[in-house]
Amino acid sequence: MITMRGVEKGFGQQEVLRGVDLEIPPGQLTTIIGPSGEGKSVLLKHMIGLLKPDRGEVWVDGVEISRLRGPSLDKVRKRFAMLFQSAALFDSMNVFDNVAFPLREKRLASESKVPRMVNDMLERVGLGEMGHKFPAELSGGMKKRAGLARALVVGPEIILFDEPTTGLDPLMARTIHNLIRSMHQVFGFTAIMVSHQVPDIFPISDWVAMLKHGKIIAMARSRDFQGLTDPVVREFVLAGEMPGPSSVEGPGQN
Ligand SMILES: Nc1ncnc2c1ncn2[C@@H]1O[C@H](COP(=O)(O)OP(=O)(O)OP(=O)(O)O)[C@@H](O)[C@H]1O
Ligand SMILES: [Mg+2]
Repeated sequence: MITMRGVEKGFGQQEVLRGVDLEIPPGQLTTIIGPSGEGKSVLLKHMIGLLKPDRGEVWVDGVEISRLRGPSLDKVRKRFAMLFQSAALFDSMNVFDNVAFPLREKRLASESKVPRMVNDMLERVGLGEMGHKFPAELSGGMKKRAGLARALVVGPEIILFDEPTTGLDPLMARTIHNLIRSMHQVFGFTAIMVSHQVPDIFPISDWVAMLKHGKIIAMARSRDFQGLTDPVVREFVLAGEMPGPSSVEGPGQN
C-alpha cells in the first residue's frame, strides 16, 4: 500500500532519515518502533506528503507522491486520516463538533446525515454520551478516543497513528490499543502506528518495523519480531519488557 525507497531527510545539518526502505502491506496494522528522536514522526509525515524527502521515493498505492503538489496531492491525502501525537482537538468546539469537523470541512456528508454518523462513531469509541463536553472537560484517554473518532468518521483507507497512547497510564494505554485493534478489524483500513510501547504493541500489530539511525533495521510479522536475534532489536525489546518508568510515559511532543 505504501512503499518508501531510499528516503533521506535532513533538517539543516541534522540527518534524520538516512535511506529508509519500507513496505507497508495493505489492510494490515504495521507498527514502527524505535527510540525517541529517531525520526518516527518525520517518517509518518512523509507518507502523507506533509514532508518531502531530500532524496528517495514515497509511493502510495502505485502513485509516487513526493513530487506531487496542489490538487493531485490533496486527492491522495483524502484517502488518509492521521492521529497526531497530541490529540489536537479544537478546544473551542465540543466533542460532537470536533468529530463532525472533517465531514463538514471536506463536505463528505450532507448536514442531515452528520448527527447519525458522528453519534455512531462516538458510540463505537465509548463516548456515546460525551458529545456535549469540551476537550478541557475530558480525561487524557477520552481525548484520545475523541481523536480516534474524528479520524475514523471520514472512512479513511489508511490511518496513521503517531504514539496514540502517549501520556496515558498503562491500563488506559492498553484500552486505547485494543480499541485501535478492534476498529481495525471492523473497518479493515491499512494502519501504520508509531509507538515505543514495547511489548504492548506486539499482540495488536500484524507487522512490526524498527527505525534506528535513520533506517529501518528490521521488519517482521509481529509474532516473530520478539524472536529476532539482531542485538540492537533485542536491546530495545528487552528494555521495554522490564518494568520501569519507560513503560508508563513516552517523551516527545509533536
Ligand atoms: N520540522 C522540523 N524541523 C527541524 N527539525 C525537525 C523537524 N521535525 C523533526 N525534526 C527533528 O528530527 C528529529 C526526529 O524527530 P521526530 O519527531 O521524528 O522523532 P520521533 O522518533 O518521533 O521521537 P518521539 O518518539 O520523541 O516522538 C528530531 O531531532 C527533531 O528535532
Ligand atoms: Mg514522534
